[in-house]
Amino acid sequence: MTDDLGALLASAPTLPRTPSVRSLLAGTGGYLPERVLTNDELARTLDTSDAWIVERTGIRQRHIAGPHETACSMGAAAARAALGAAGAAPADIDAVIVATSTPDQAFPAVAARIQHALGIQRGFAFDLSAACSGFIYALAVADAFIRLRQARHALVIGTEVYSRILDWQDRATCVLFGDGAGAVLLSAGPGTGASTDRGLLSTHLHADGALGDILYVDGAVGRRDRPGTLMMNGREVFRHAVARMAETVDEALADNGLTHADVDWLVPHQANLRIIDAMGRRLHLPPERVVVTIDRHANTSAASIPLALAEALAGQRIRPGQLVVMEALGGGLTWGSALLRI
Ligand code: ACO
Repeated sequence: MTDDLGALLASAPTLPRTPSVRSLLAGTGGYLPERVLTNDELARTLDTSDAWIVERTGIRQRHIAGPHETACSMGAAAARAALGAAGAAPADIDAVIVATSTPDQAFPAVAARIQHALGIQRGFAFDLSAACSGFIYALAVADAFIRLRQARHALVIGTEVYSRILDWQDRATCVLFGDGAGAVLLSAGPGTGASTDRGLLSTHLHADGALGDILYVDGAVGRRDRPGTLMMNGREVFRHAVARMAETVDEALADNGLTHADVDWLVPHQANLRIIDAMGRRLHLPPERVVVTIDRHANTSAASIPLALAEALAGQRIRPGQLVVMEALGGGLTWGSALLRI
């Protein structure tokens, strides 16, 4: 710090004390395309089998977007469901943040399109890209806006059509992914010191661009020669996934003065059942406290956590007052965790 800046800070008037704000979970919603593609159907055109896919990944089927479905249309449907669950109106919303790697267009952002589709006429809207960690990143960004009092009600949406960036001849990748969207509504509420300790306690984000080449899409709209296909070194991703996600869950608990024993639920990114099981064991959680959707949804990237959360809350498995830990790792590499008291 320069001497000038130090002097300036020392002479600054004390900021008025204001009660802190926290992001509360007001509602969740999900959307899955009608078309279901089973492992057996895939095995008709691909050198694979239901037995191999189930044993290595836990996936039994995935949903595939219809020709007219897009990240926008699915994200808007999930957002409407979240608003309905919260009993909120579009007019309440002042921020729309979308995590996606498969936008309809380079711009406008999917978030801006969804804002319009929902009839929201104020606030701001933008997309962010962090692959399968996108929802955790978007939660963190929305939480920061709410804590800074720049938004009171933020829609956070993960929406993906990975079926359009897959090589359907590559059995090592195409069996792993599905399409869908999930959304949460975060609303500003009383923060630290409030009588109830609800809301987003913390988020922790990480990235290591040096590992960008183990999971990537080899093109984009900015390259006329290549629209882009997903490429992955599955073993390397697997190796990093458990280690990095376990680290970021441990740092989240430590930062909040909590331990594994305080966690009621794990709502993990759904990439592979073996990774999910390993994370559950690391947290000493019995399998019935781990939310699993990968068997039916496969990996829906940024949509997987909000879809799983919406399903577990709608089924009243997760109850008010319980502590939920969410974690993800994806292309970038990016990874992160979020701690949420329902
Ligand atoms: N059906 C049948 N055989 C297959 C298939 C398939 N669908 N896919 C691969 N195989 C074969 C391979 O060719 C290989 O055969 P070989 O031994 O004759 O060479 C054999 O199965 C073993 O392949 P591995 O890659 O070693 O299998 P592994 O047990 O590692 O499982 C998997 C592969 C499922 C991809 C695993 O590595 C994994 O889940 N990795 C993590 C993936 C992940 O988390 N991705 C996150 C995406 S995040 C994002 O941002 C998009």
